[in-house]
Amino acid sequence: MEKFLIAGGRRLQGQIRISGAKNAVLALAPATLLAPGIHRLGNVPRLRDVMTMIELLEALGCTCRLEGRELLIDTRSISSLRAPQEIVSRMRASFYVLGPLVARYGYAEVSLPGGCAWGPRPVDLHLTGLQQLGATIEVRDGYVIASATRLRGTRIELRVSSVGATGNILMAAALADGETILHNAAMEPEIVQLGEYLRSMGAHIEGLGTPTLRIVGVSELRPASVEVIPDRIEAATFLIAVAATEGEVTLTDACADHLTAVLEALEAAGCSITTTASSITLRMETLPRPHPISTAPYPGFPTDVQAQWTAFMLRAPGTCRITDTIYPDRFQHIPELQRLGARLERQGNSVLVHGGYPLVGTRVVSRDLRASAALIIAGLIAEGWTEVIDIHHIDRGYEAIETKLQALGAAIHRVVQGD
Ligand code: EPZ
Repeated sequence: MEKFLIAGGRRLQGQIRISGAKNAVLALAPATLLAPGIHRLGNVPRLRDVMTMIELLEALGCTCRLEGRELLIDTRSISSLRAPQEIVSRMRASFYVLGPLVARYGYAEVSLPGGCAWGPRPVDLHLTGLQQLGATIEVRDGYVIASATRLRGTRIELRVSSVGATGNILMAAALADGETILHNAAMEPEIVQLGEYLRSMGAHIEGLGTPTLRIVGVSELRPASVEVIPDRIEAATFLIAVAATEGEVTLTDACADHLTAVLEALEAAGCSITTTASSITLRMETLPRPHPISTAPYPGFPTDVQAQWTAFMLRAPGTCRITDTIYPDRFQHIPELQRLGARLERQGNSVLVHGGYPLVGTRVVSRDLRASAALIIAGLIAEGWTEVIDIHHIDRGYEAIETKLQALGAAIHRVVQGD
C-alpha cells in the first residue's frame, strides 16, 4: 500500500497536460465487442481502471495491447460471454459489456456490480432498457443472465438520465432490428463520443448531445479508430487545486466546452479564466468567495467534482451549501476533512461549508476516487504535513497525479505506507 505526504501552503503555478478521459475509455472499450476486428483507441490514460477494463476484455477472449497511450483491441476471437464478479466488483463500468455482448452474441452473464463507497449503485435502468429491446433478463447467484435471439428497436424513456444505462442501451440498439428512440438520454461528452465512435463503426445514430437519441439498427458493424477526449473531471480537479492555493495554471489538451458549469463556478468564486480551443488558463489572486453549487446531469455541475469543490470552499470565508442531487450519500470525504479542522455540517444530500478557518495537516484516509482528490486539495492548503493513505483509489482515475502536481510546485510525495 502507498500513501501521499503533502506539505501545505505552497502556491501552485505552471502548465500541465490533461490526459484522456477515463469515463470515455470505459465506454469505448466495451463498444469494440460489437464488431469483429482490430480497434484502435488513442490518447488512452494509464489508469488502474483502464488496466481492469483490459483484464475484463481479455477474460472474454479479446487480445489487447497498450503501448504508450495507444490501445489496440482485437475482438475476432471472443471465447467467453461471462464477466466475472471478481472483476466487475472492482469496477462498476465493467457492466458496460452487457449491452454489446447481448447485441452481438445474443447472450451474456455479467455479475451485478454491487455498491460502492457511497451507497448502492442500481442497474435497473440498464436491465429494463435491454428487456424493452427484447432481451430476456434473469438474475441468478448475483449474475445478470441476458439472452435474446434478435433485439428489436423500440421506444425507451429513462426515469433518470443515467450515463451507464444510456451507454448500454445505445450499444445494444446499434445492432437491433429497426428504430429505437431513447428519451431522457445522458448528454455527457463521454456518451457523445461513444455515439460518434459507434457511427464511425457504421451505426446510424442521431441526436447525440441532446436528451433524445434515435438509433436505426444495422446488421453488422466494423472496427474503427478513435482519439479519446480530454478528461474534464481531471481538468476540473487541477483547476480547483490551483485556485485553492491562489495560483495560476494552464491546462493543455483540455476542452473548456466540456466544463462550462465548473468554469462559471470558478469565476463566481473569484478566479479569472481564459480559454482557447485546446487549453484553459486560470489565475486566482485572492481568497475565494463562497459559491454554492448543486450537482446535476451534464451540462450541470458534475457530481464527480462535488468533493473537490467542498475542499476549495474551505478557503472561502463565509458559508455556502453544496448539494449532490445525483448521489445523496456521496460525502465520504466529510469526516476526513473534519480531521483536518474543516467546519462542515452534513444535512441530507447537502453539506453546509463554513469556510475561512485554518486547516491543520494530519493523517486522513482515502475512501473513493473523488473524495481522495478532495483530501489532496485540502492537504495542499493545510498547515504542515498531511498524509493521505490508501491511495490506490486515486490511481484508478488520475494518471500520475503527484507528478503533475509536483510540476506545479506542490510538495507531494508518494511513499510506501509502512504501518
Ligand atoms: C457514471 O457512472 C460515471 N462513471 C460516474 O463517475 C459518475 O459519477 C456518474 O456517471 C454520474 O455522472 C463512468 O462513466 C464509468 P449513472 P454511472 O448511471 O453510469 C441512478 C467517477 O468518479 N441510476 O449516470 O454508474 C444512480 O443511482 C465515476 O469517475 C439508477 O437509479 O452513473 C444515480 O443516482 C463515479 N438506476 C444516477 O442514476 C440505474 O440503472 C446517475 O447514475 C442506473 C443509475
